[in-house]
Amino acid sequence: MSEITAAITAVGGYVPEYVLTNQILETMVDTNDEWITTRTGIKERRILKDVGKGSSYLAIQAANDLIAKKGVDPKEIELVIVATATPDMKAASTSAYTATEIGATNAFSFDVEAACSSFLYGMSVAARYIESGRYKKVLLIGADKNSSMINYEDRATCIIFGDGAGAVLFEPNDENLGLQDEYLRSDGSGREFLRATYGGSSYPITAEALENKEHFVFQDGRTVFKNAVFNMADVTQKILDRNKLSKEDVDWLVAHQANKRIIDATAGRIELEEDKVMMNIHKYGNTTSATIPLLLNDYETQLKKGDKLIFAAFGGGFTWGSIYLKWAYNA
Ligand code: UT7
Repeated sequence: MSEITAAITAVGGYVPEYVLTNQILETMVDTNDEWITTRTGIKERRILKDVGKGSSYLAIQAANDLIAKKGVDPKEIELVIVATATPDMKAASTSAYTATEIGATNAFSFDVEAACSSFLYGMSVAARYIESGRYKKVLLIGADKNSSMINYEDRATCIIFGDGAGAVLFEPNDENLGLQDEYLRSDGSGREFLRATYGGSSYPITAEALENKEHFVFQDGRTVFKNAVFNMADVTQKILDRNKLSKEDVDWLVAHQANKRIIDATAGRIELEEDKVMMNIHKYGNTTSATIPLLLNDYETQLKKGDKLIFAAFGGGFTWGSIYLKWAYNA
């Protein structure tokens, strides 16, 4: 561990206004509120309806929320990382546009894409820049407009995903607060179980693919569920063991919000009480790269300096991991 640690010193968040409730979904596909609630824990999600607004729009709102709350001068931000699985466009970095729009004109920027683990991996990347001693302000934003790749005639996926963004600022810390340890993994044999096949470089879009709706997300839910439960619990246990932490030491579990049952299973594995488990899936559904920073934004006022947070995520690829971080400020 280097002498400089990378601490989160501010958070921000944004979700679009339009609320897609379970009741509205009942009118769109063959589903019902009871099934969605008991199988996923989701009651509603937010959708960005405006044509021409992509993930950068969500990222910009979340970043501006952080900038206003923290009172940071955007010109002092040196690096902007946008974690996203739904970039605005091909061939043009979403982060470059985001950085310019928020006034971070002295920053360089790039995107990180690792499906639902994008933000977790982004935390690892952001921390390395701070720990190097060369950078003092790194803005990490998780933003996804999932509605852009969802088939609203497919009940297996349309009930799960929502749109949103969250942002965190990483700064150096000399009290050993901030990121302590990480355990990140991937396994490409999982690719077939969660993917949008057409529209990428392997299979550019065709009229036939559009007709067959193969440019939308497909998920083999059961297989992804089983892998998510096993791996999120496994890495969470590993990070506790490696840092000699007992369940009493953990103040918060900050788990990717994909399914309440997966989060409960992860908390159950380390026998963590329910009131230490951050949860907002009922309000936003699965917002992919935005779930973790939106949790931090919702729970910011309850977090205390020195709190021990265990992060965990699992997503397409497969990608997954866990991070141990000590919170650095009282809101
Ligand atoms: O964040 C990235 C990673 N993603 C995840 O972690 C998601 C992991 N997977 C899941 O969360 C769950 O697998 C789902 C929520 C997607 C599905 O829940 P499940 O308990 O695994 O349901 P299932 O797919 O096994 O389906 C059970 C039944 C089926 O009917 P039969 O075959 O038992 O008659 C489905 O056809 O539920 C049916 N079903 C539905 N019924 C009502 C599937 N979707 C729906 C629906 N409404 N929306």
